[in-house]
Amino acid sequence: MKLQSQNPIGIFDSGVGGTSIWKEIQLLMPKEDTIYLSDTKNAPYGYKSEEEIIELSIKNTEYLLERDCKIIVVACNTATTNAIRILRQKYDVPFIGIEPAIKPASLQTSTNTIGILATKGTLHSQLFEKASSNLEDKITIIERVGEGLVDLMEKGKINSPEMIELLTKYLKPMISENADCIVLGCTHYPYLKKLIKNIVGHKIKIIDSGPAVAKQTQNVLSQHKLLKQNTSSSPKYYFYTNKNKATLSYFLKEYPNSIIKEISF
Ligand code: DGL
Repeated sequence: MKLQSQNPIGIFDSGVGGTSIWKEIQLLMPKEDTIYLSDTKNAPYGYKSEEEIIELSIKNTEYLLERDCKIIVVACNTATTNAIRILRQKYDVPFIGIEPAIKPASLQTSTNTIGILATKGTLHSQLFEKASSNLEDKITIIERVGEGLVDLMEKGKINSPEMIELLTKYLKPMISENADCIVLGCTHYPYLKKLIKNIVGHKIKIIDSGPAVAKQTQNVLSQHKLLKQNTSSSPKYYFYTNKNKATLSYFLKEYPNSIIKEISF
C-alpha cells in the first residue's frame, strides 16, 4: 500500500484510555483525520499473556490498515511494551508507541526515588524490565500494578469511592518511601490526574507522556512527508468500539463532531 498524506491516523487501545493520547494528537494536529479503535471487548490487556497481547495488537493494526491509515499509534503502554517490536517487523507503516516515562522522571527527581503505576503486562514486559534495570543503579523505582483501575474506568466509575480507595492504597506507600515523581504508565491514568493530585499532594510531579507521543507522531509524519496537505475540509474523527459505546461517548463529550460507533471486530 502506498501511504498517502490525506489518509487518517490510526490509533488503538484496549479501551477508552488511548483517547487521552487522541486528545493530545487532536490538539496538536486538529486538521488530521483519525480512526480510533477501542478493543473494549478484550479489555483489560494488562492481565493477558504476551502472546495474547501480540495477537490482539495484530488484529487491531490490520483493522486500521484495511481502512488505509498512514501511521499507527499504539496508544497503550501494555500493547507497546509487549507487541510493538513484532508490529514493526510485520508491517511496512510507521508505528508510534507509548512507554512509561521513567527516564524523564529520573531526570526530574530530587529524592532519587520515583513511583510508577502501570499494568502487570507493562511492568513484566522485557522492554520495561530492561529500561528500568538501566536506571536502577542511579535511582529507586517503586513499581505498583494498578489492579482494578482500568476495569473501574471502563465501567465509567472514574470518580467513585472505589477508585479513590484503590489509588490511595497504591500511591500513599510510594510517598512514604520518598518518591517525588509518579509516572503514569497506562494511558487510562491521565484521566485520574486530579484524584491522584488530591491523594499525593501538589508538590509531587505527575509524569504523563501523552504530549510527547503526539509530538513524536507529528515528527514522524513530517519526516515521511505524510502530514495532511489539504486542510480546508473539516476533519473526520471516527471512534469504533466492539462493546458498549457509553463510556467512550462520556470521555468524548467535549468533541461533538466525533463519530462513535459500536461495531464487531
Ligand atoms: N491503556 C492501557 C495501557 O496503557 C491498557 C490497560 C489495560 O487494558 O489493561 O496500558
